[in-house]
Amino acid sequence: MADAPLVLGIETSCDETGIGIVRGHTLLANTIASSMDEHARYGGVVPEVASRAHLEAMTPTVEAALAEAGLKFSDIDAIAVTAGPGLAGALLVGVAAAKSYALGLGVPLYGVNHLAAHVAVDQLEHGPLPKPCIAMLVSGGHSSLLLVPDVAADVISLGSTVDDAAGEAFDKVARVLGLPFPGGPYIDRAAREGSGTAVAFPRGKMDDGTLDFSFSGLKTAVARWVEAREASGRRIHVPDVAASFQEAVVDVLTRKALQACKKYEVHDLLIGGGVAANSRLRALAQERCDAAGVRLRVPRPGLCTDNGAMVAALGSDLVAAGVTPSTLEIPADSSMPVTTVHV
Ligand code: KG4
Ligand code: ZN
Repeated sequence: MADAPLVLGIETSCDETGIGIVRGHTLLANTIASSMDEHARYGGVVPEVASRAHLEAMTPTVEAALAEAGLKFSDIDAIAVTAGPGLAGALLVGVAAAKSYALGLGVPLYGVNHLAAHVAVDQLEHGPLPKPCIAMLVSGGHSSLLLVPDVAADVISLGSTVDDAAGEAFDKVARVLGLPFPGGPYIDRAAREGSGTAVAFPRGKMDDGTLDFSFSGLKTAVARWVEAREASGRRIHVPDVAASFQEAVVDVLTRKALQACKKYEVHDLLIGGGVAANSRLRALAQERCDAAGVRLRVPRPGLCTDNGAMVAALGSDLVAAGVTPSTLEIPADSSMPVTTVHV
């Protein structure tokens, strides 16, 4: 793909200002500025704080990405940007910046779907995606099961969370256990010292015949269990609670993902999003995929969490597919459906 165009991707749907540069499926730069430190004391991302941080981080992060790739602005052939879903104000900063760069450089603009970009990014590490594949996206903002006949053209929703996202449950349970925000990595670490079978927490919607998820009941069950222990004056062994909660989440996630593979007779599963960094999810998914004869693809953690490379990767696929570029009128769409791959 030496002659493929150079695509610069801009991601601002949540708290990360991510800039990625790719040529075809070759990653040349992936630079990130996060405003997480500013949100941590609130225990969640504050949209207005995130928007302002994107504004301040945009130019330096783009310049850092160009420097990392050893490129000049004039080398860029196309701009891709997350147009949705995400925080409205945060998206707006990225979309406005992308339009300005596209107009200023005289290059095409591609507004893309954040969720499809989480799927497309794996190609930077593991090569072209099998067509079709099943993708499970699990992060702080989303938990979805997708059938992906072609990531640049056709993404079908099979199921999603009916309440909390998987990452949201990790973050809320971490708070109950007195661990810092965002809690996923802390639960992952604490769980390594505990037993996943110490407490039998409920597995919502486990075998209900749908491909939807529910984590709110589990989160409440953990909170009630901790409250009851504290009320009776007994000690709480955080690693055991963390491991048992984590086991309940990854048990349901991997069960449903493999049910989707079976139902649609697809033999390739991709897991993406921030929660895909979870060590127990990776291990159990591998074990269950091996048993079911399904090939598993999980991008490295730095590509699972929100980043600009994922946006550039999907933009690159759109260019390769000859998709008509977006107009300069495209809006930022905070509730863009997953079936809309690009606008
Ligand atoms: O994809 P992401 O960076 O941002 C969006 O939400 O879109 O995902 C962040 C989420 C947070 O909820 C965080 O707690 C969770 O991913 N997370 C993890 C791990 N690393 C990050 N959850 C479980 N285990 C981890 N190792
Ligand atoms: Zn995301």
